[in-house]
Amino acid sequence: MDIILLGPPGAGKGTQAQRLVEAHGMRQLSTGDMLRAAVKAGTAVGLQAKAVMDRGELVSDEIVSALIGEELDAMAAGQGAIFDGYPRTAAQAESLDAILSARGRSLNHVIELGVDEDALVERICGRFTCANCGKGYHDKFEQPKVAGTCDRCGSHEFKRRPDDNEETVRTRMAEYRAKTAPILPIYDARGIVSRVNGMADIDDVTAAIEQVIRG
Ligand code: AP5
Ligand code: MG
Ligand code: ZN
Repeated sequence: MDIILLGPPGAGKGTQAQRLVEAHGMRQLSTGDMLRAAVKAGTAVGLQAKAVMDRGELVSDEIVSALIGEELDAMAAGQGAIFDGYPRTAAQAESLDAILSARGRSLNHVIELGVDEDALVERICGRFTCANCGKGYHDKFEQPKVAGTCDRCGSHEFKRRPDDNEETVRTRMAEYRAKTAPILPIYDARGIVSRVNGMADIDDVTAAIEQVIRG
């Protein structure tokens, strides 16, 4: 089963993808995470992407589609993929079709997380993740069970993203509206879009997504 989680910055794509990984052994393919890893490693892609990401603009279609192809090649044939933050433009949506069909795969669901833009700045500015295992948290909405200790791996180190400030978030939202939201009709025409209320509690959003993938 291959699915896309679609929604603006802070909609909960990463949060829900991590839960699907834990529940179903699927693999999360987050181009944002891949690009941040490239920046950290100082690769050629990372050097090109860093300034663009810090501004909240989109990295080139060629770069992200190449990353997705490489990650899919590293997966077992039967393992499901969760596309998180990809595709983000019409060109990427077209590339994804070609990438999947070349590997004998196809999309089962596009799940759109619907959210109020006003809530997103608060969500994003309160977000942090475990520096060791990457589990996501929030100052107000999802704190570790024991303060200062990761629920999943026990690490005491956490980090915040450099693009999680209000100004950059506004640019990221504008990019979403201008370039990403317009790809929905492509999938609507195929009858594979389900809309989930992303403003509900995290557990309720998970339950709604489970209902979609169970059919
Ligand atoms: P990316 O990393 O994809 O960032 P994004 O799309 O802006 O999305 P976020 O990761 O900010 O949000 P999310 O939906 O994952 O929310 P989360 O679950 O963390 O991309 C970063 C940059 O990389 C881009 O700006 C671009 O430059 C580049 N890039 C990446 N992919 C690209 C592509 N395909 N093409 C071109 N460029 C690309 O949730 C947020 C917070 O809210 C968390 O703290 C969470 O705990 C909390 N939360 C989640 N759900 C709920 C809920 N239901 N109620 C309350 N709190 C909640
Ligand atoms: Mg994310
Ligand atoms: Zn951890």
